Amino acid sequence: MDRETPADTSITATMADSPARATPAAPVVVSVCITCKTPEGAVVGPDMFAAVTTAFGALDGSIMVRPVQCLSVCKRPATVAVSSADGYTFLFGDLETASGAAALTSFVQSYRKSDYGLVAWRERAEVLRKGMIARVPPLGWSPDDGRPPK
Ligand code: FES
Repeated sequence: MDRETPADTSITATMADSPARATPAAPVVVSVCITCKTPEGAVVGPDMFAAVTTAFGALDGSIMVRPVQCLSVCKRPATVAVSSADGYTFLFGDLETASGAAALTSFVQSYRKSDYGLVAWRERAEVLRKGMIARVPPLGWSPDDGRPPK
């Protein structure tokens, strides 16, 4: 589970103290699994994709919403990933269509402003806290201080 542990807080503090912040470059990519089904067999992925696309409205190139097939978390539909070329990748599951789409728009706003897209736990909607499956650091990330390797 993803929580702000003491170690997590120290990395965030170190990153915040650094003069050069690294907000993720556009586009932020929202990948929606369109093959997700409930345990009863109802396909929910396309509805989630439609809701997310509508929630983000007219896209200006800074955000890309794309349909994908299976994010390998099939037991936790609907599933969505948020990523960027140089930011964290977050994977969420157990999302209801309307509340999930609304939470994702708020999350992506924070993601775009956060160092490496590492959205603070307190800035995540409850449905995303509960639905957190994984967060993966970007390639340019150092385990020493959270900054890119020098
Ligand atoms: S079908 Fe959606 S995660 Fe596998």
